[in-house]
Amino acid sequence: MAKTKTVFVCRNCGNESSKWIGKCPGCGQWNTYTEEAVVKTSGVADTRFAASISVPVRLHEVDYKSQPRLDTQTGELNRVLGGGLVRGSVVLIGGEPGIGKSTLALQVALAMSNYKVLYISGEESVQQISMRAARIGSKNDNCYVLSEISLQNILNQLQQMKPDILIIDSIQTLQDETLESSPGSISQIRECAGKLMKYAKETSTPIFLIGHITKDGTLAGPKILEHIVDTVLLFEGDQHYLYRILRASKNRFGATAELGIFEMLNDGLREVTNPSEVLINNNNEGLSGITTAATIDGIRPFLIEVQALVSTAAYGMPQRVSTGYDVRRLNMLLAVLERKAGFKLATRDVFLNLAGGLRVTDPALDLAVIGAVISSGVDKPVAKKTCFSAEVGLSGEIRPVNRIETRIREAGRLGFTSIVISGAYEKINMPGKEHIQVIKVNRVEEALKQLFSKD
Ligand code: TYD
Ligand code: MG
Repeated sequence: MAKTKTVFVCRNCGNESSKWIGKCPGCGQWNTYTEEAVVKTSGVADTRFAASISVPVRLHEVDYKSQPRLDTQTGELNRVLGGGLVRGSVVLIGGEPGIGKSTLALQVALAMSNYKVLYISGEESVQQISMRAARIGSKNDNCYVLSEISLQNILNQLQQMKPDILIIDSIQTLQDETLESSPGSISQIRECAGKLMKYAKETSTPIFLIGHITKDGTLAGPKILEHIVDTVLLFEGDQHYLYRILRASKNRFGATAELGIFEMLNDGLREVTNPSEVLINNNNEGLSGITTAATIDGIRPFLIEVQALVSTAAYGMPQRVSTGYDVRRLNMLLAVLERKAGFKLATRDVFLNLAGGLRVTDPALDLAVIGAVISSGVDKPVAKKTCFSAEVGLSGEIRPVNRIETRIREAGRLGFTSIVISGAYEKINMPGKEHIQVIKVNRVEEALKQLFSKD
């Protein structure tokens, strides 16, 4: 007989204890234990791979190619997954509320018309899902929807229907009736995810789980959810901008460096297959405070516009405001400018913005940031068709960045005629097709000389 008892569970790592503890011995966090009612059944510890009785096989005899990846009909998603959806894999799509997770999932469900897709929502009624589908505007006779939160009912439906692909929106709404705690609690999330994982492995059905992210950027629910699933994709972006980025933070079947870019439109998400062309604006020539950086996020190069505004600080403390770029790094670059280029900023406000509301952490942006700040400060546009790709060090040295050839090639492809990079490269292997002048500089002062056109 199952016996009801309560346990204390760490919200952060899922550690369990029979009594409340202030500091979690598992992850070292304070005040993370919450009391939850559970029904202990024997052997729930690791049901993930107990699918069928398995026997050891020789590794080299395992034919991994016999498991082709399913095409999600969404190039950007395929890319982030590492070339498509692996059968039997569980993919968690995490993101803040309102970012577009349900839209993405439904769009994929509608696009994969060669497969029987079951979209289960615990948040919306089937009418609401149908309204969304009408908005997206594509049709798929093979797409089924179900509004349900009971895990047992869901598993029953799955036995009968045997879908090829399952989407659960969201894992936080599911309820395993053998547990007494409420949906969204740690034990519910863990049990539901564990049982779905078992189902995925037993039947080779790929599952997309949607999960909410809390304000501080962690998945709501224990870290254990991230451990259970095969792949964690994070859907990010600023709600006030149109662009959305899908990045893998864990992937058992591919690299985590890949990045997918989407644009949220009135009729759903559009894939941005050529990011550079939307992130740079060709009508900005002749405006001061705008530069272009050749960056790489993941493994794809793209050019992005950096905008700066330097103005006289009206009241006391000057402001430093940055969107998409680390404000501490901006402060560091301003200090370098002050010391190395004699550019006085103590009484001036500096605002910085990356195009499209994207957040980019590539250090190659540094030189473009400095360029934009100077250009705005002296109110002079930078040289036409010139872009930048270099990190700036504390003593004003211009440092090399990785995969410079890829960046130069992308800049050349987009019609830039010169690119300013670090002088530290020994040899740059270019195929030679691009008509782009590569300008090497070693110090910030030198770089500034290249900023404005000679004429
Ligand atoms: P949604 O997918 O519901 O977000 P999530 O599931 O992550 O909470 O979508 C959120 C926003 O997207 C919502 O504010 C409306 C907007 N949206 C569009 O702009 N165009 C569309 O076609 C759809 C379906 C939604
Ligand atoms: Mg949603």
